[in-house]
Amino acid sequence: MTTGCVQPARNAANSFKNPEAIANYAEGPPRFVPGFEALHRMTGVLLAETAPAQARVLVLGAGGGLELGALAQAQPDWRFVGVDPSDPMLDMARRTLGPLMQRIELVHGYIDDAPAGPFDAATCLLTLHFLDAAERLRTMQALHSRLKPGAPLVTAHSSFPQDPASRPTWLSRYAAYAVAAGANPEQAASARAAVDAHLNLLDPGEDEDILRDAGFSDIAMFYAAFTWRGWIARA
Ligand SMILES: C[S@@+](CC[C@H](N)C(=O)[O-])C[C@H]1O[C@@H](n2cnc3c(N)ncnc32)[C@H](O)[C@@H]1O
Repeated sequence: MTTGCVQPARNAANSFKNPEAIANYAEGPPRFVPGFEALHRMTGVLLAETAPAQARVLVLGAGGGLELGALAQAQPDWRFVGVDPSDPMLDMARRTLGPLMQRIELVHGYIDDAPAGPFDAATCLLTLHFLDAAERLRTMQALHSRLKPGAPLVTAHSSFPQDPASRPTWLSRYAAYAVAAGANPEQAASARAAVDAHLNLLDPGEDEDILRDAGFSDIAMFYAAFTWRGWIARA
């Protein structure tokens, strides 16, 4: 899967279960998500504002291991639980993370399969756009219940204006950025079509409402890059 999170929403987990399809996964996000490396760095900085030196961090949608690797390298004393329903994506995480796995526990499943915690911090990157609004709320509520009071959560995923005048323009910019970043134009066009047809896209305001309804407060957008948005919030 090289297209940076564009698989059909109704079988999102299944989309990541084909080892061939995800073989080159790590190439996708840097091409399709502007500032992908900086997003990881900012996530680490935001979590470290309040997380303790020996924080235990919950990483939901951890397949591939990219943010786990970035966070584990930035914070040598943090420990992590990574949760993901895709075995091939978890296998890729194990291969990518190598010795860092000593501080990481990977759990196959969904948020309900995560330990109760309570955790000192959490992330959910490039994942929530696969969930419809009701499942997104349920997932965020279950994640909230696994955090210590006031603990930080960083989320980032596809979220941009959905009105009929704006949506196609932003989708085209999403594809154009990928081509500018080195993606094959046909692949970028196919990714655009898949995002348009299959992802559960919400307005950024709706995403903020879901976080609020799930019990989070101090919700602040820290990242906006074409079709992508990221938030810091507190449990
Ligand atoms: C595009 S990948 C993002 C992986 C990683 N967070 C990153 O940024 O590279 C989306 C991941 O979400 C996982 N996923 C899909 N539905 C999920 C759910 N309901 N809960 C947790 N993870 C889910 C998929 O298996 C996949 O590994």
